[in-house]
Amino acid sequence: MDVRQSPGCLQLVHKHTIQCGEDMEEKKKTVIEVRDAKKVYRMGQEKIKAVDGVSFTVEEGEFCCLLGTSGSGKSTLLNLMAGIEKLTKGEIIIKGKSIGKMSENKLAKFRQDNLGFVFQSYNLIGSMTALENVEFPLVFKRVPAKKRRKLAVEMLKNVGLKGRMQHKPKEMSGGQQQRVGIARAFVARPAIVFADEPTGNLDSKTTIEVMDMLKAMARQNNQTIVMVTHDRKLTEYADKIINILDGKIESIEIQANSKEGKFPEYEEPEAAEKKSEKSSKSVKDKKKNKDKDSKSDKKDAAITAPGDRQADTDQPQSAGGFDLAYETEKLEAAAQKLIDEEKAAKLAEQSPPEDMAEEIKDGFTELTKENKSGL
Ligand SMILES: Nc1ncnc2c1ncn2[C@@H]1O[C@H](COP(=O)(O)OP(=O)(O)OP(=O)(O)O)[C@@H](O)[C@H]1O
Ligand SMILES: [Mg+2]
Repeated sequence: MDVRQSPGCLQLVHKHTIQCGEDMEEKKKTVIEVRDAKKVYRMGQEKIKAVDGVSFTVEEGEFCCLLGTSGSGKSTLLNLMAGIEKLTKGEIIIKGKSIGKMSENKLAKFRQDNLGFVFQSYNLIGSMTALENVEFPLVFKRVPAKKRRKLAVEMLKNVGLKGRMQHKPKEMSGGQQQRVGIARAFVARPAIVFADEPTGNLDSKTTIEVMDMLKAMARQNNQTIVMVTHDRKLTEYADKIINILDGKIESIEIQANSKEGKFPEYEEPEAAEKKSEKSSKSVKDKKKNKDKDSKSDKKDAAITAPGDRQADTDQPQSAGGFDLAYETEKLEAAAQKLIDEEKAAKLAEQSPPEDMAEEIKDGFTELTKENKSGL
């Protein structure tokens, strides 16, 4: 394997050696180890080597990019690392555990406890508000309702969406939806977040905002990111770039001075409240005038409320043999069941049974199938 190092890194290694010496060199903890991973798809007689014997490590707190052209095997590799796809050969060790050896249930629990996902097409649940979408992973982790709400509110504030908590996906821009997606991926504080082309549907300005946020969010709690991209420009945020070609690693680059991110600015609560008071006052004034007018012309008063704007037609589409809308519905029902059960348990003053989470397949894993279906 050809291991290249950017000038920035050489500089750092040099500096480090002088200051600390070889023995004292600070060693980062490895969180992901990929050992000779292979994935072969069979299409009739044809064998497609999507991932062809790759080995590398990802360290704690690292921002790692899998870079390559279309069809090079990036998504397959990411899905293998996230335990969504099964390896044909090799081993993947996450936080010291070989994920290939885990049972389905153990793997689902492991993903809930340790992994987060950000998708290219956001995959938010159309019938839920931004706040409910962010709370969603916490429902499966059985975080009590009050705490869930508090954590989700904090996350949405972090991503600059204080004013959009009650909006449904259809009532937000693509960039805002992806911010919700990021808030959802990070809300349960996973050690690792996997992101497959998270800015693939966004314009260049929004891409920078989303990348900044992803990096800042991960850095804040020393979380590890593995992000797939075909866009060389985005790798400026990466500490490690794994160049993939035809299912193999072409080279690995280490960047010591990767671009850091920043959180979006959002209005301070007081300012926002004052503003909203002011605007609600002006809305009231306008309404007063409008009411006067509406008596003479009712048609003019027919203003559509945000919640009524559109039906929830944005359920994820089905892809290949996998019906994402159906899976989403199943998840929603499972989440509702957990919430209902939580309420019932509260009434009965007893804690809900522990095994409920096993009744459903890991939701976010199901949703990630969309990625490999190539939507
Ligand atoms: N389920 C599958 N069955 C058969 N072949 C597959 C399957 N999934 C992926 N492939 C093949 O494996 C190869 C790698 O696909 P993959 O989706 O990993 O590429 P990628 O680098 O993510 O591409 P893109 O940038 O277009 O998303 C491709 O040749 C693809 O056709
Ligand atoms: Mg892909």
